[in-house]
Amino acid sequence: MSGVLKITVLVSGGGTNLQAIIDGIADGTIQNTKIVGVISNNYGVYALERAEKAGIPAFVISPKDFASRKEFNEALKAKIDSMDTDLVVLAGCLVRIPEILIDAYENRIINIHPALIPSFSGMGFYGLHVHEAALARGVKLSGATVHFVNKDLDAGPIILQKAVEVEDHDTPEILQRRIMEQAEWKIMPQAINMIANGEIEVRDGRVVRK
Ligand code: GRF
Repeated sequence: MSGVLKITVLVSGGGTNLQAIIDGIADGTIQNTKIVGVISNNYGVYALERAEKAGIPAFVISPKDFASRKEFNEALKAKIDSMDTDLVVLAGCLVRIPEILIDAYENRIINIHPALIPSFSGMGFYGLHVHEAALARGVKLSGATVHFVNKDLDAGPIILQKAVEVEDHDTPEILQRRIMEQAEWKIMPQAINMIANGEIEVRDGRVVRK
């Protein structure tokens, strides 16, 4: 990878993972990287304010604004293409990523999942549901995973994982917060930095250091 890695960050809500990326670029944790745009599928979310405060172009592309899912998918891809994006980063993004985007950006879309994939992942495991399931199972460790996105939900090649202790009186909200603070906000910037510095590649479906 020569030059600066241009990333477009897709968000849906609070944008704390986006903020970790913004802060990581500012403090040098993430090198050779520029956020060329932020796209939300929801209006009025705080992630958009975080982008605007950081001077990053921010857009809303919502399925509600299109007559069909196909038109939404095409508009989303067109916007990402228009910013000359090298890497698409799903940061708290809860919209289904279209196959046309996955085909065009093979191993160039990454996602943060708030569990140690393959645990508590796949259909229905998003947001607090992930942590409710982890607590119901009684796991002693949970955590977060950054992975490349392919057509199977939460099943692409794993880039980084970080484990977090589950404590006796955890609620889903407390566990979610601990995983965000101790895992998500650390491994997402770390994964972007590894890609920006050309440190990893996908070989036989697994991420390896070059
Ligand atoms: C986080 O738990 C993240 O793992 C999940 O969405 C939640 C909110 O993310 N994907 P953010 O604060 O919007 O980055």
